[in-house]
Amino acid sequence: MAPAPLLEHSVSLRPFNTFGLDVKARLFARFASVEELRALLALPEVQQADKLILGGGSNLLFTQDFDGVVLKNEIRGLEIVSQDDDSALVRAGAGESWHGMVQFTLDNQLNGIENLSLIPGTVGAAPLQNIGAYGAELKDTFDHLEALELATGHVRTFTASECGFGYRESVFKGLLKNQYVVTGLVLRLHRRPQPNVSYGAIQTTLEDMGIGGEPTPRQVSEAVMHIRRSKLPDPAQIGNAGSFFKNPEVSQAKFDELKHLFPGVPGYPVPGGVKVPAGWLIEQCGWKGQRRGAHGVHDKQALVLVNHGGAQGHDIRELAYDIIASVREKFGIELHPEVNIL
Ligand code: EPU
Repeated sequence: MAPAPLLEHSVSLRPFNTFGLDVKARLFARFASVEELRALLALPEVQQADKLILGGGSNLLFTQDFDGVVLKNEIRGLEIVSQDDDSALVRAGAGESWHGMVQFTLDNQLNGIENLSLIPGTVGAAPLQNIGAYGAELKDTFDHLEALELATGHVRTFTASECGFGYRESVFKGLLKNQYVVTGLVLRLHRRPQPNVSYGAIQTTLEDMGIGGEPTPRQVSEAVMHIRRSKLPDPAQIGNAGSFFKNPEVSQAKFDELKHLFPGVPGYPVPGGVKVPAGWLIEQCGWKGQRRGAHGVHDKQALVLVNHGGAQGHDIRELAYDIIASVREKFGIELHPEVNIL
């Protein structure tokens, strides 16, 4: 067995969460391979501790110190594993940055994830919540993933159906929560460009960029980056974890009732009902741009909670609960956090 990587005590997690919260992990280690992970899991101190597998820390809200072991996934590697005239399978180690994988595919003239450009976080975290943006979701190009079972150390593969993907959901957030560590991800990308510009703002941004006709995947990627930069705060400047809440789904009857009371309410049909943008609901309750000391609601996207510097996680959680209560009171709709609150 490989020697176990260094196990550190009382480590600040501030550099490892995009909210920039200064909490401590009782134990902390990084692993760069499956063998190193197995060696860590064999240590009695690690065996007995609660475990948190950390990727980019871009979907986490720490409300207190973590009284367990944080294992940071740093498994690298980006490669084309096979290809034919139509498509290619691209494999990435779970510790690679997601945006790095997007760039790698574009550099190799492979298409399919350009709409997911600039999403913070690592490759390994992407399938956990089936990341999605601008009309695309991870599951659209997903082939399979490799994951290590914490209880046994065995690595197995999961197909798309075994992952149980839904809207910001997978089996790894449900039935198999905390049981597996994703170690690698394999996507099937297309050789032929199939630009997806269904999301309105992509069209208008491409027009603003002076691009007429069919855009290249690189141009779609640039348009997406432009939109993200204009709406979403850069975690390197202002702490945040992207959308804090999921967009709620309501029944058609509930939506008709809302439309009657609030004629401006936006909604997108989904199987079984209508998805309502949480950002709109939150903005209507007057939260957009509100600030409570060091934390608040982003002024360009009400779905994003921010740490202006020095905020505490429990304060941000309290703000989130207040937002949930006011949306419930005004609209009778229950918002659910998208971010993992610890
Ligand atoms: N809106 C407002 N006020 C706001 C924000 C949004 O009225 O402050 C309304 C507008 O009607 C707007 C609509 O909400 O047209 C949709 O807004 P936007 O396009 O910004 O998307 P979103 O639904 O708020 C979702 C994802 C984002 C993803 C974007 C683009 C979720 C929880 N969030 O946000 O994902 O980038 O669509 O596809 O589904 C993330 O998950 O962290 C994330 C950023």
